Amino acid sequence: MSMPKRRELFALACSALLSAALVAQETPSLGTPVSEAQLQGWDLIVSPDGQGLPSGSGTAAQGKEVYIQQCAACHGLEGQGGAGVPGLVGGSTTSRPALLTVGSYWPYTSTLYDYVRRAMPPTAPKSLSDTQVYQVVAYILHLNGLVDEDVVVDSASLPKIEMPNHAGFIDRSQVQ
Ligand code: HEC
Repeated sequence: MSMPKRRELFALACSALLSAALVAQETPSLGTPVSEAQLQGWDLIVSPDGQGLPSGSGTAAQGKEVYIQQCAACHGLEGQGGAGVPGLVGGSTTSRPALLTVGSYWPYTSTLYDYVRRAMPPTAPKSLSDTQVYQVVAYILHLNGLVDEDVVVDSASLPKIEMPNHAGFIDRSQVQ
């Protein structure tokens, strides 16, 4: 086989360059790296044992005000729910039909903290301070008869409040 001529070599080099340029063009724009500060607003997971609960504390007495201003319009003054909005109080897992609420169904108080902090009010999620979330969570637990008005709820005490349906779920996360 004869050696390729100079002109052919040049053409080969050109086509290699061209395809490299095309590959570069096809690389998706994946954006910029996320900073630690930005992550803080998303890394909000609180696990059932309370890990991830922030500092701060609140009582139901304090939470009543937050609830009336930020939640009652949709969830009702007594937490009874409204049109298209779930009730937060009472209910039963065994009635037919079952009425599943935070009070009757949710197994862990930490989930209530996690959910409210991340999602409520739906018109302005993450707008409540960590302290306001403790306060309003304490109030919802109080409406369900689970804590007294003046009990201080914080990262240490909240996970210890036992929900009525705490034994109603089977943890299969460790099953292989
Ligand atoms: C604009 C109306 C509105 C406001 C205000 C509001 N919520 Fe909600 N909330 C909803 C709706 C609708 C849902 C159901 C969302 C879903 O299932 O996806 C919900 C769900 C919830 C749940 C979960 C209930 C369940 O059993 O699934 C909790 C807890 C809750 N809200 C707490 C609060 C708290 C605390 C506040 C005040 C800080 C608040 N909400 C303010 C409309 C509202």
